[in-house]
Amino acid sequence: RPRKLSSAATSASPVPFAVAFDIDGVLVRGGNQIPGAGRVLEYLVEAQSNPNVARRVPFVFLTNGGGCMEDAKAHEMSDVFFPELPVPIRPSQVMLSHTPMKSLLPLYKDKQILALGSKDYAAVCRAYGFQHVVTVEDVLHAHPELYPFKTYHKRHDLHTDPFAAVFILHDPVDWAPEIQVLCDVFEGGRLVGENPASSGKHSHIPIYSSNSDLVFSSGYAVPRLAQGAFLAAWEAVYRACYGGKGIEINRFGKPWESSYRHAEKMLVHEARLLGLTGEDLPPHKPHEHKHYPIQRVYAVGDNPLSDVDGANRADGHHCEWVSILVETGVYKEGMPHAAKHVVADVTEAFRLILELEGYEI
Ligand code: G3P
Ligand code: MG
Repeated sequence: RPRKLSSAATSASPVPFAVAFDIDGVLVRGGNQIPGAGRVLEYLVEAQSNPNVARRVPFVFLTNGGGCMEDAKAHEMSDVFFPELPVPIRPSQVMLSHTPMKSLLPLYKDKQILALGSKDYAAVCRAYGFQHVVTVEDVLHAHPELYPFKTYHKRHDLHTDPFAAVFILHDPVDWAPEIQVLCDVFEGGRLVGENPASSGKHSHIPIYSSNSDLVFSSGYAVPRLAQGAFLAAWEAVYRACYGGKGIEINRFGKPWESSYRHAEKMLVHEARLLGLTGEDLPPHKPHEHKHYPIQRVYAVGDNPLSDVDGANRADGHHCEWVSILVETGVYKEGMPHAAKHVVADVTEAFRLILELEGYEI
């Protein structure tokens, strides 16, 4: 076990470092542990109850996965890595791609929104507090003539109100009817045929996407298409059919700033839970990281366009972000990247972190 050489953190001094782990392609592939990941997490979980405060390291999971609630993902991660223990991963340690989309609640709580995704995306959206969540299936049941190739079963009633926004919360899986309905409601939030005056000249309703990843690392040997690929397909279809500039998308998830601000808050929360910082967040301004409760966050990820670019962009805003790219997922040797460090896997990444922080390995 490594021994800490530098002085202990106290509630008066900032926490020297924290870790943000990507999940798919770093810790897990296709629901199974990536070799070595279990030992890294065991070390961190054990260290969190170490009587020596300096051994405790705040860590969170920063994934572009989703389609479930944060507590379900915490359970899933606990089951994969700690089947013997009662859920050592806290829901507050899990940020899913759509977690920061909760911030949209004041704008859309009472408005009708069109939600897309897979798994439990609609239930997640409702659990976040959005009261009028309608799915593509609901639209197609109410208007079967919109997409004549399939029959849909009714799940939720449509209101006569127009859609105020589109929320893509997880990877859509039935692209043809989904792209059709998106193209139909995109302009002004009403079905295109319901507004004969519609001529393609109106501005479109806001589109929010939780994840821009083109591909991700699953159980299959080669990366699989992800939500970003769906967005690219929709934009290409829209441009080919209707021309124009394309679609403006408000993006959440990695590599976008809102996710990193959220992750920093989660890490400060973790630092407090571990007794490493005081209750009050000291006043700080962007780029004045000497006042921030955490000095450095190591971001361990496998996707250069998401994990690495996100960490690099976040670097220096509130604290230092150090990108570490591993080779167990999307990234393979020779691909372009801007990572500060490249290592084989999460074990090597953690060894590097400890070395950089002055631990004796
Ligand atoms: O983009 C799909 C998602 O599953 C990727 O997850 O953990 O690699 O950010 P993660
Ligand atoms: Mg990944």
